[in-house]
Amino acid sequence: MISRSEVEGRLREEAATVEKWLSGCLKRRGAPEGLLAAMEYSLMAGGKRIRPVLFLNVVRMLVSDNWAQRLLPFAGAIECIHTYSLIHDDLPAMDNADLRRGRASCHKRFDEATAILAGDGLLAEAVAFMGSVETLGVPSEWVLRAVICVAEAAGTVGMVGGQFLDMQYTDGRNVDIASLAAMHAMKTGALLRAPCVAGALLSGADETPLEAMAFYGSALGAAFQITDDILDVTGKESVMGKPVGNDAVLNKTTYVSLLGVEASRALAEQRVQEAINALAGFSGPESDMLRGLAAYCINRIS
Ligand code: IPE
Ligand code: IPE
Ligand code: MG
Ligand code: MG
Ligand code: MG
Repeated sequence: MISRSEVEGRLREEAATVEKWLSGCLKRRGAPEGLLAAMEYSLMAGGKRIRPVLFLNVVRMLVSDNWAQRLLPFAGAIECIHTYSLIHDDLPAMDNADLRRGRASCHKRFDEATAILAGDGLLAEAVAFMGSVETLGVPSEWVLRAVICVAEAAGTVGMVGGQFLDMQYTDGRNVDIASLAAMHAMKTGALLRAPCVAGALLSGADETPLEAMAFYGSALGAAFQITDDILDVTGKESVMGKPVGNDAVLNKTTYVSLLGVEASRALAEQRVQEAINALAGFSGPESDMLRGLAAYCINRIS
């Protein structure tokens, strides 16, 4: 097991590699000026970049660092989709949040129409970025399966479907913990599981590692959103870079509203242990980093 500070250091380093790719990707494709500005504003605002880093570490563990470098556009695409989800999540019609990644949220800095289109643009460009790795010598069948995997995670059985349920689970609706867990698995879990599964698919992995990565990503994703709910209560706005206490203001059903902070934390710890258990068949520094990232999901302060 590598130390917490080592995990955080490596995460920052690998995030910087992803950001280097992200910083030029939209300009290269072209977009009307104001739209490009809004997309870049949100995409380049910082963020932990945990989804692309998970993807790259899975590929490194299953194949090599060289192969991971080649797949950088795929990693960046996943971050584009995540950023789109954040832009739309903050809109007045959804969570109505004015702060994101330490700056005014996209619709506040620009306007609502621009923020909606910036999100749409990031999603569509991401599909092109994912497909583009086929031109870099990655077998087309692997690319196709990985693109479908990410599209499903972003779509109606994943993030978008989960966000829809999240909007319904408010105002004191009687939601039980199983329904909440299922909603979390969709809105957040799916886009954390997908980088792990897509990484395995783009490594040519067979059934056993694929299943392990799916299990690891799902458990990590569950722990991640429980912690997000906790941090909405216990976190600091200046550290989080987004509003705290917003879930209570919006009367959202969360782990904390149903179980309180302590029981929620205990559940998150259980899920991290499950994620780590899923890696039992793997050894070496990359698998250690994946174990460390699972633990980071609940130890993080932002
Ligand atoms: C925030 O995701 C939204 C959730 C799905 C909980 P992150 O906590 O990964 O946000 P960034 O990318 O670091 O800003
Ligand atoms: C996850 O839930 C949002 C997405 C799927 C984008 P939240 O609404 O709790 O995320 P934050 O707290 O605003 O980042
Ligand atoms: Mg939300
Ligand atoms: Mg929100
Ligand atoms: Mg939240």
